[in-house]
Amino acid sequence: MAAHSLRGFRDLLPPDSTLFTAIEAAARGIFALYGYRELRVPTIESKELFVKSTGETTDIVEKEMYAFTDGGGREVAVRPEGTPGVVRAYIEQNLSQSGRNAKFYYIGNMFRAERPQAGRFREFEQVGAEYIGNASPFADAETIAMLLKFLEKAGLPGCSVDLNSLGCAECRKNYRQTLLAYLRGCSEKLCEPCRGRIERNPLRALDCKIDGPWLAETAPKLTLCPDCSAHFSRVQDLLKLSGVKFSVNPGLVRGLDYYTRTVFEVRSSALGSQDAVCGGGRYDDLVKSMGGPAAPAIGWALGVDRLAMLLKDKHALDDSPKAFVIAAAKEAGDKAFELLSALRDAGLAADFSNFELSLKSQMRSADKSGAAFALLIGEDELKAGTVTLKPLKEKGDQRTIPFSEAPSTLHTLLKG
Ligand code: HAM
Repeated sequence: MAAHSLRGFRDLLPPDSTLFTAIEAAARGIFALYGYRELRVPTIESKELFVKSTGETTDIVEKEMYAFTDGGGREVAVRPEGTPGVVRAYIEQNLSQSGRNAKFYYIGNMFRAERPQAGRFREFEQVGAEYIGNASPFADAETIAMLLKFLEKAGLPGCSVDLNSLGCAECRKNYRQTLLAYLRGCSEKLCEPCRGRIERNPLRALDCKIDGPWLAETAPKLTLCPDCSAHFSRVQDLLKLSGVKFSVNPGLVRGLDYYTRTVFEVRSSALGSQDAVCGGGRYDDLVKSMGGPAAPAIGWALGVDRLAMLLKDKHALDDSPKAFVIAAAKEAGDKAFELLSALRDAGLAADFSNFELSLKSQMRSADKSGAAFALLIGEDELKAGTVTLKPLKEKGDQRTIPFSEAPSTLHTLLKG
């Protein structure tokens, strides 16, 4: 029996893969403007790293992580998200000492054993950004503004951000008790997993896919301490100054444990109600709690698969070659091969099928390729040192030009 891919895992075929590449290129372009540099961290880390940072009681760690004991008896996990690896590298590689801003981006595949459905995969790609070492509201505003510039550059302008503040450890200490008392009071209404974890982490119930929506209406709300409140209003002022559209959503809690203060998400109605295209926030205590220096931080990660779904209908991606070269006579193969090379050297995407096949068959391939022009070399062209140029997409006469002029003529025609 032929082999199949695993459920929730998929092949990414062109032109979708071309769209992913375009999104990645847009991200790299924006990151360079904001001083972010790429950090590549391993796909597999110790399981403990994610348990301690993403959070023991999160769905990601409790239910979705691909964790296993390797051949050497080590407890490892395939990364479900990028932030813990970046923080580990920041600490382990002493990146706080580099003298440069600790602004890092990553582009890579993440793995979560979620129930597969539209826009939710077990292997998916994230573009992520982490800014470590700046506690000021300017960092929050810059990070969020950069995200929107990226979305705009990738082809999704005018997005609005859902914004909230989860306060600091101090604000949450009191709130934890209030919330726990409330949840204990209505525990019979909670789903099984929430009932099991409210004592360890009552806040997680607010993010539960089952109980979160009704708890957002009924549960007591967090009150921010004066410092957190001032920080949150500064962030909002700076976002207004940056022209970022946002709305404050007190129900936004995020599904990972490390967040403090500002949290945000970008949602799209096209993705179904549960799903965000991007999420992030501050994590001012994480670096220290992982054994590093006291370094406040903020970041986000965007789901490339989800962004590609949103962009797919908007972009008629043209990944066709510009020129399709044809050898119209057997002995013209070498010259046609030379022409391919000359076109590519001039920056023109050029392709061919098989110079040993009939003219008819090569023409059929040229039509299917989506190329704008077919460039033919037959017996006559070979003798005269010329190339015949035939438009494939638009009506127009074919013309014969000197071989050496083929790249420049094609450039001119494509511009016109
Ligand atoms: P997250 O909200 O868990 O945050 O994931 C970020 C994005 O990854 C989501 O908004 C979504 O677009 C995408 N994503 C998550 N799960 C899936 C899935 N199963 N299939 C397809 N796409 C998915 C984080 O991962 C944090 N590390 C973000 C962050 C960085 N916070 C601070 N720094």
